[in-house]
Amino acid sequence: MTKKLWGGRFQKSAEEWVDEFGASISFDQELVFEDIEGSIAHVTMLGETGILTNEEMNQIKSGLEALKKKAEAGEIEFSVSLEDIHLNLEKALIDSIGPVGGKLHTGRSRNDQVATDMHLYLKKQVKDIIGLISQFQSVLVEKADKHKETLAPGYTHLQRAQPISFGHHLMTYFWMLQRDKERYQEALKRIDVSPLGAGALAGTTFPIDRQRSAELLGFSNVYQNSMDAVSDRDFILEFLSASSILMMHMSRFAEEIILWSSQEFRFVEMDDTFSTGSSIMPQKKNPDMAELIRGKTGRVYGNLFSLLTILKGLPLAYNKDMQEDKEGMFDTVHTVLGSLKIFAGMVDTMTVNEDRMKDAVQNDFSNATELADYLAAKGIPFREAHEITGKLVFTCIQKGCFLLDLSMEELKEASNVIEEDIYGVLSPYEAVKRRKSLGGTGFDQVENQIQAARELLK
Ligand code: ARG
Repeated sequence: MTKKLWGGRFQKSAEEWVDEFGASISFDQELVFEDIEGSIAHVTMLGETGILTNEEMNQIKSGLEALKKKAEAGEIEFSVSLEDIHLNLEKALIDSIGPVGGKLHTGRSRNDQVATDMHLYLKKQVKDIIGLISQFQSVLVEKADKHKETLAPGYTHLQRAQPISFGHHLMTYFWMLQRDKERYQEALKRIDVSPLGAGALAGTTFPIDRQRSAELLGFSNVYQNSMDAVSDRDFILEFLSASSILMMHMSRFAEEIILWSSQEFRFVEMDDTFSTGSSIMPQKKNPDMAELIRGKTGRVYGNLFSLLTILKGLPLAYNKDMQEDKEGMFDTVHTVLGSLKIFAGMVDTMTVNEDRMKDAVQNDFSNATELADYLAAKGIPFREAHEITGKLVFTCIQKGCFLLDLSMEELKEASNVIEEDIYGVLSPYEAVKRRKSLGGTGFDQVENQIQAARELLK
C-alpha cells in the first residue's frame, strides 16, 4: 500500500476497495500533460517571487521535464491508491528528485490545480474542434459549389414542397456550423481564464504572482475571486452545451443522409468506407456512420445534463462531487472530434444521384406555387390564384398527370390569363432560377452564399 501524501492526520490506512471508489486516476490521466505544464508554471512563479530558491526551482523544473518525457513515452505507472493524476505525479516527482519535490505544492491546492488543468485541456481541445468545423465547412462549400445547379425536391413536413438547388440545401449546414463555431469561440473567452493560485478556496499567505503564472500558461485572464475560481464549472457547461447543439445539427444531417440513402429515395450513396454490410442479408449497404453520429448525440446531451445535475445542489466551494465533471467532458471531446472527422469524410466522398433527384422534381407538384405566383403576378389576388391552382392539381390527380402535361385549353379553362409562357415558368429549373430574393434558392443567390462562405473560411 502506497503511503498517502496526507498520511499525518490518519491512524488507519485506507482499504483498497474504498480507494478504488474514490479514485479518478483511471480517467484523469488524460490531464497528464496539462498537470505537468501547470506545475512548471507554478514552480517558475515560486522561484521568480523568491518563495523558493532558484536552485529549488530548477531542481523541480528539471524533475518535471523528466516526468514529461516519461509521460510521452508512456512510462509512468499510475496507482489507484494515489487517487488522481495530481497526487500520482507529485509522488513520482518526489520519488525521482527527493524531498525537495515536496516544495512544488507550496501555495497551491489540488482544487486550483485541477481547475487549471481542465481550463488548459479544454482550451486546446476547443481550438482543435473549431479547426475541424472549418474543414467540414470547406467540404460542404465545395460540394455545394459542384451542385449549385443540381435540382432537388425541397420538403416541408417531409412532403415535396418546392424545387431547390441541392447546393442550397447543403449550404444550410454550412451556416449551422458557422454558428456552432461562434458558440465555441464565445465559450473560449471563459475557458481562457486562470484559476491557478486560488488555493483550496481562500487564496494563500505566500506572496504569489497569479498574473505571472497565468501569463506563463498563456491564459488571457485570471479569476478575480478565489472561491469562484475553484467552484466554477460553467466553462465546461458552455462547452457541453455548444457541443450538444453541434451534435444536434450533425444528427439532423445524419438523418437526411440515412433517408436519402434508402431505396425509397436513392438520392445519395455513401462511399464503401463509411458503410457496412449485413452479416445475413448480402444485398445490404448500411449508412452506419451516419446512424452512429445520430446515436452519439444522445450521449453528449446526457453529459450536459449530468453535469448540470451534479452542480445544482453544491455549496461553495470545492466538493468531491466535482470529480464527476471529467468523464463527460472527455467523452464529449472525443465524440465531437470523431463525429466531425467522419462527417466531413462522408460528405466529401458521397455520390450524389443527380438524375434521381431531377426525376423527383419533374414528376411531382412542387411547381404548383409557380402557377399560383404566375396568376398573382397577373393581378389575380393570391388567395384566388391558390384556389385555381389547387383545382388544377386536383384535375391532374384524377387524370394521373402533372401540371406540365395539361393542354393550353385545359389551363385557359381554369383561368384565361394563362398564356404559352406558363410552360417555361412551370419547369423546375426556372422555378429555382427565379427565386432571386436574398438568401433564396436561385442559382445566383447560392453563388453569393458560396462566395460569402469562402470569405469566412479565409
Ligand atoms: N481528483 C480531484 C477532482 O478531480 C482533484 C481535486 C481534489 N480535491 C480535494 N480537495 N479532494 O476533483
